Amino acid sequence: MSLSKHVDPDELMASLPQRPTKHQPHPHKRATHHYIYGSRYSAGTAIPKFEIPGQGTDAGSIHQLIKDELDLDGRPNLNLASFVNTYMETHADQLIMENIAKNLSDADEYPALMAIHSRCVSMISNLWNIPKGQTAIGTATTGSSEAIHLGGLAMKRRWQERRRANGKPTDLPNILMGANAQVALEKFARYFDVEARIIPVSEESRWCLDSSRIRDNLDENTIGIFVILGSTYTGHFEPVEETSRILDKYEQETGISIPIHVDGASGAMVAPFTGSQGKWGFELPRVHSINTSGHKYGLVYPGLGWIIWRGEEYLPKDLIFELHYLGGTEQSYTLNFSRPGAQVLAQYFNFLHFGKEGYKTVMRNALSNARFLSNAIEASGWYVCLSDIHRKRGIHGGGIGKGVKEGVKEAVLGDDNPHVYNPGLPVVAFRLSDEFKKEFPHVKQASISTLLRAKGYIIPSYRDSDESRFSRPRKSSGSKLSEDREENSEHGTR
Ligand SMILES: Cc1ncc(COP(=O)(O)O)c(C=O)c1O
Repeated sequence: MSLSKHVDPDELMASLPQRPTKHQPHPHKRATHHYIYGSRYSAGTAIPKFEIPGQGTDAGSIHQLIKDELDLDGRPNLNLASFVNTYMETHADQLIMENIAKNLSDADEYPALMAIHSRCVSMISNLWNIPKGQTAIGTATTGSSEAIHLGGLAMKRRWQERRRANGKPTDLPNILMGANAQVALEKFARYFDVEARIIPVSEESRWCLDSSRIRDNLDENTIGIFVILGSTYTGHFEPVEETSRILDKYEQETGISIPIHVDGASGAMVAPFTGSQGKWGFELPRVHSINTSGHKYGLVYPGLGWIIWRGEEYLPKDLIFELHYLGGTEQSYTLNFSRPGAQVLAQYFNFLHFGKEGYKTVMRNALSNARFLSNAIEASGWYVCLSDIHRKRGIHGGGIGKGVKEGVKEAVLGDDNPHVYNPGLPVVAFRLSDEFKKEFPHVKQASISTLLRAKGYIIPSYRDSDESRFSRPRKSSGSKLSEDREENSEHGTR
């Protein structure tokens, strides 16, 4: 991002009398390699930004040059706008570097890597309660977005196969999701020609999928429902079990069976260790597939997701490519072909190193810290939390019309057992309190984010909550929430 939108820095530089020369002298004539800042990348040399330079220069200078430029970036561990993991232990870093050149798509060349990949798929499907005797199928992806697209595609293809078999049209598929859906879910609908039925959320639905509105939006063209375990905006877990019951009843009444894909980008690696509001995994037969981001609460660096189907029959055959590649035969059902193999090893490292107990400790610590911060924020009187993990199980608050005193009253202090509290992600989502807004009407919520940015923290700021914003039905394209996302992109929103 340029510092100023109305000034073209390149034009400005070009107009200055003492601009760096366009000619690049031979590096050996200018460079003093003992000291990087005395090298050819010094004053007097033009560094092309948009063309590959005619001649290269030594690795040390270039490393420093790029490193210096990257100082303008935010710091990943102060980036609270995404849930992506920023720290791994030295031994994991070492393992990643030792295997950084391995391509996950070269199955024949890296059989040990592939065996570890399969073990990870088994470990994750067991974590998500795959019933005994059921053989799950799944794969690593580059993140939850790719995994969600694969899960959605499988639901679409199965629906099409069923419809064709019954001689019915297949041109108007639709899928349900709450208005809080992360952009990856809407992208699936738009990219794969499925109508997105976006169900409005409200304070009553805790800013999540509103189960009371599901029934009215179903029909014979519904390929499935995306249920989010861990809403990006407030951390709430959507009601998977209740959705499943609604769909059971719908099937009894109409004979139409509609599957669930659980978007567990964050929550599918939190709920197994902290509990949720009822069942959410493969113990529910209607849950056909689940995704997670290994790079979020799987605690691996960015570039890893997982998708698991409850059995082979849930992944239509025409999505599986049999490749005869580099001398071997392999099955491929990802959108990307090449992708980093080292991330999978890092995930396996975590599984073996932490064990379930280790993950449990990390998640409980994160929740404890988030609760502490929520309580402190509300006690200030300036803010009220929309997230609910610091409130007693079953008690929700902090939304529109709730004053700060009420919020604090609803909080429980001191107990560390996650079952005492509402389930959810270790996320603190807060807004200015009504009292604060009354007293300081000129203070905009976005400025809190800007002030924190000055300290290095990247905190997303969504527009001030007003019920109409959340309740208004929106279309899959140009939606209200998408507009807000764009408008707020400068405040670190996604
Ligand atoms: C609920 C949810 N789904 C999907 C995604 C997309 O995940 P990824 O960034 O791994 O593609 C996110 C990312 O924040 C998310 O929160």
